[in-house]
Amino acid sequence: MSKTLFLLSKRAPILPLLRPPAPISLPPSLQSHTDIQVPDFSPYRRNSCNNPGTHSSESVDIRRLIPTMVAGTGLTIGAYALKSEVIRHVVFMAPSADVLALAKIEINLADIPEGRNMTYKWRGKPLFVKHRSPEDIERERSVDVATLRDPQHDDERVKEPEWLVLIGVCTHLGCVPISGAGDWPGGFYCPCHGSHFDGAGRVRKGPAPTNLVVPQYTFPSPGKLLVG
Ligand code: FES
Repeated sequence: MSKTLFLLSKRAPILPLLRPPAPISLPPSLQSHTDIQVPDFSPYRRNSCNNPGTHSSESVDIRRLIPTMVAGTGLTIGAYALKSEVIRHVVFMAPSADVLALAKIEINLADIPEGRNMTYKWRGKPLFVKHRSPEDIERERSVDVATLRDPQHDDERVKEPEWLVLIGVCTHLGCVPISGAGDWPGGFYCPCHGSHFDGAGRVRKGPAPTNLVVPQYTFPSPGKLLVG
């Protein structure tokens, strides 16, 4: 430190600097804003939250109620919107009335004489409808099911004994069997590889593994057959 600075420091008035400063007198506009009125939000608070001495955990249930209700309502509306959208798509993709009409076939049974088998085209496949005679029915009912490759009693193959309804497709490789041919009277014969079916469409001989298929059908009114 230079000599000049040392002398100045010794003469400098230190004590006045250590004294606390005199209070500054500010104009009222710059003093503390103690005159501002704090709004009272009590009317906007829930009753359960108005008491500052009450712990928040005591009112948590009532405070969560409204958000939960809002979320629940939103989810319900969303679920209904999703459901209606799914239904709209399903209805759009559902088959039209004309396609459904092709999916079913109605047959007038009076057109099929007793003992005859008629072939129809249904869903691109041959459909056999055979009007069985009492002898046919008796013969097929008396078959011992234990001797069959694909055991089925005649009662399981028909809804009304005189009407036999079959898909005319061989269960071996898909040829169309011939009605009234083969080793079993009143049965069907597939010439492709020699499968024989009896008068209930049950396989009796040859490579076919299972009986001819019986489709879904009903008798909606007397003399009418509805397949599909
Ligand atoms: S397709 Fe009928 S026996 Fe082979």
